Amino acid sequence: MAIERTFSIVKPDAVAKNVIGEIYSRFEKAGLQIIASKMIQLDDEKAGGFYAEHAERPFFKDLVGFMTSGPVMVQVLEGEGAVLKNRDLMGATNPKEAEAGTIRADFAESIDANAAHGSDSLESAAREIAYFFSDAELCPRG
Ligand code: PPS
Repeated sequence: MAIERTFSIVKPDAVAKNVIGEIYSRFEKAGLQIIASKMIQLDDEKAGGFYAEHAERPFFKDLVGFMTSGPVMVQVLEGEGAVLKNRDLMGATNPKEAEAGTIRADFAESIDANAAHGSDSLESAAREIAYFFSDAELCPRG
């Protein structure tokens, strides 16, 4: 399987629950390397731009409000099949439908506050990584 990069967010609810390390540990145990990482406070413009494709959805305002409600961790994960692997680790968008043992089943309360984001394709991953990180901030280990 090809080595891929994907973009991930530990959302404000999971940061507030103090489970950043537990989530990072799941990435690493699954064979994903964290090649860039930072904690940031999003504002309306940055969060709204990130979720621009959902701007017309009824939940958009609440989503931006939630994503700006506290700091988030943003990271780039690298490894074999990283995009799908990270989606599998996260589980379904709605934690009530997420498989047991996934990040959202274990740490999320609702579809509005669902602990993690992960790119849904290689194309999204490239766009999302570039939205938060410069090339110089990426530290692949080879
Ligand atoms: S969809 O319906 O397939 O387009 O949804 P999806 O792309 O999986 O997720 C859209 C992002 O919006 C967040 N969000 C919600 N989605 C659906 N319904 C409600 N009420 C809602 N509230 C927030 C959802 O968590 C997705 O965020 P990310 O960060 O991409 O996981």
